[in-house]
Amino acid sequence: MSIKVVELFAGVGGFRLGLEGWNGKSASSNYTKDLKSNYEVVWSNQWEPSTSIQHANLVYKDKWQGANHCGDDIDTIASNEVSDTKVDSNIPDHDLLVGGFPCQDYSVAGVNTNGIEGKKGVLWWNIHRILEVKRPKFILLENVDRLLKSPVNKRGRDFAILLATLSDLGYDVEWKVINAADYGMPQRRRRVFIFGAHKASGLTIEEGVDWISQNSVLGKSFPSQIKGDRKAFELKGSAVEISNDFVHGKFYNCGSMVGRNILTFDYTPKPDNNINYSDFGSLKDVLIDHGKVGDEFFVDSKKVLKTPIIKEQKPSISLSYLQMNSRDEAVLLTELDKWKYLKGRKAEKRVSSKGAFYYTEGPLSLSDDINLPSRTIITSEGGSGASRFKHLVELEKDVLYRRLTPLELERLNMFPDNHTKHERVTDAKRAFFMGNALVVGIVERIGVVLSKCIKESQDKSALQHLSESEN
Ligand SMILES: C[S@@+](CC[C@H](N)C(=O)[O-])C[C@H]1O[C@@H](n2cnc3c(N)ncnc32)[C@H](O)[C@@H]1O
Repeated sequence: MSIKVVELFAGVGGFRLGLEGWNGKSASSNYTKDLKSNYEVVWSNQWEPSTSIQHANLVYKDKWQGANHCGDDIDTIASNEVSDTKVDSNIPDHDLLVGGFPCQDYSVAGVNTNGIEGKKGVLWWNIHRILEVKRPKFILLENVDRLLKSPVNKRGRDFAILLATLSDLGYDVEWKVINAADYGMPQRRRRVFIFGAHKASGLTIEEGVDWISQNSVLGKSFPSQIKGDRKAFELKGSAVEISNDFVHGKFYNCGSMVGRNILTFDYTPKPDNNINYSDFGSLKDVLIDHGKVGDEFFVDSKKVLKTPIIKEQKPSISLSYLQMNSRDEAVLLTELDKWKYLKGRKAEKRVSSKGAFYYTEGPLSLSDDINLPSRTIITSEGGSGASRFKHLVELEKDVLYRRLTPLELERLNMFPDNHTKHERVTDAKRAFFMGNALVVGIVERIGVVLSKCIKESQDKSALQHLSESEN
């Protein structure tokens, strides 16, 4: 049985690695043990707006040579302006559609002859268009968890539109916000995973707290227990009506939609002790020998700035890692001082059109605790410039620190070592890819469970056919 997959918004192929493995090996074992996969990516798409060189595509095509990979804007492949016949021929038939797409404004202006009229450039509507024409049996989408409570002025509306439009296409849905670190993986990265099964797929999405927590595809993959509030309601009305009038507020961390019936609640993770979710569980596990790290990754307290940087502060506040002088100024003398200043507590004097004010920030830890799963990688992680959010590893207190290398960032997302290494791709771009990517081990785990569930549902229906033909 081969499960044919289309990978949208492919980036550098996180979904593909999770489903297919790499050279037959699994992400959970850091690519040392076999992954028996029956997934086959038959088409993928990736296009980075506003850059002429398509760096992610360079990596993707290099890693999967001969792949049926399309490097065009998805809007030119599948949108309301592209006919059904054209969408159908642009994208091969498939069983499972996967993709991580941005959280944008999904509001609906109306319905015209071409279909639902969402805002231009909102990528959800391209996914919707593909589903409309191709109707794959299953979908697996990834997004930031903010999607469940967006937009700020009408909490939950965007996810409600997404759910309602899926329901109208015949899909039942379950979702779960998964923090990879809660299940033994090396990064604290929270993302919502949305799994949909078409009513004709043979696989059913059910209602009920226990089912969602333990027995669904996401529940079996990442078991959990209800914690706190729950809500159940019927998602009534058309997409336009929901867009205008949604009143149920935010969606909780997991839930299901069967027909238009919603059940949603928050949960506590209950990882299954029999499962090795990942060989790497903390930042320490992914670090390479410091001696093998290039000079550009080190932040040295002895590297003196050409000219000191002076930042005026609110009188009497105390900075976290630096002393103020008698004129209430922070004086930054070294490269390391810049990091200390940015990561530390401050109340910096700034001037806007309305006059002077103090910009305040609380303290963050200067270096990352290597015994814990790492903080979330964001797209600006690369480059040597000092930053509040980039990771720092302490080698000698107050003296020597270093940033993470692209290879270490790849390991935090459970990618194969040097997956994004390419002669035309800088280290900063490689870090950018990892800021965009997902934790591969999550997809691998969902893939393993989904494949079993599909097999069971096929066996069940074969048995049913048999007993019907015998009667
Ligand atoms: C959140 S990232 C997904 C990363 C991917 N899951 C991975 O593992 O690398 C979203 C991707 O969508 C791509 N993208 C944005 N707009 C697009 C468009 N109009 N057509 C195709 N791809 C687009 C971005 O370049 C980015 O790589």
